[in-house]
Amino acid sequence: MKSCNTGFLGSFITFEGVEGAGKSTRCRKLIRSLERSGISVLHTREPGGPPASERIRSLLLDPELLVSPLTELMLYLASRASNVDLVIRPALQEGINVICERYSDATFAYQIGGRGLPEKPVKDADSLATGGLVPDLTILLDLDPEEGFARLRRQGREKDRIELEKISFHRRVRQIYLELASMEARYFVIDAAQEPDLQDRLIENRVMSIILRQK
Ligand SMILES: Nc1ncnc2c1ncn2[C@@H]1O[C@H](COP(=O)(O)OP(=O)(O)OP(=O)(O)O)[C@@H](O)[C@H]1O
Ligand SMILES: [Mg+2]
Repeated sequence: MKSCNTGFLGSFITFEGVEGAGKSTRCRKLIRSLERSGISVLHTREPGGPPASERIRSLLLDPELLVSPLTELMLYLASRASNVDLVIRPALQEGINVICERYSDATFAYQIGGRGLPEKPVKDADSLATGGLVPDLTILLDLDPEEGFARLRRQGREKDRIELEKISFHRRVRQIYLELASMEARYFVIDAAQEPDLQDRLIENRVMSIILRQK
């Protein structure tokens, strides 16, 4: 029997990290190499996923909108609940591996660390939204947020509502991510300032070891 957090045949893998740490890039590379090995995966992101969650994403990231911290929390959780119920859990139940860019840890880092919302009620509310679904593996791309923003500037991308927060906010986010990662074995911390090919190799090896665990 496969030993994993989800209890499903498919593995649930999440990517976390500050803005511009490389989540989308590393994810793309990982999926390409898994597919070359004949392993297909379902790729989703947060906030986002099914159409209702993608609409919530545009509300959340719109720099024109003033959103209170509690509203922000509820919107992230609303988006996550639909993504889990409609996309992630059904796939895992069918034995499909799921890779998600951001998940509950982003709420802990941004809404508890960044916004200062109280830990216990936020964690309880998140657990209600996910039905207790915890990733088998969380890859934390650790990077100085200033470097992440420098990368995004080079990409020429406009900043979204969250990215427009002060650098001290993003430093707190990084700090909470590292604290979370020091507390549980499901995290795999990658120095995202390292050479990209090395990061990809480390990530691929770790993901393969999770996906290929005896079922
Ligand atoms: N290891 C790396 N070294 C230098 N640049 C990188 C590295 N990894 C990714 N990049 C570049 O940094 C930029 C941000 O990467 P990416 O969009 O993957 O980050 P992200 O974590 O998904 O960001 P966001 O939080 O905005 O979704 C991209 O232009 C990407 O090509
Ligand atoms: Mg991205």
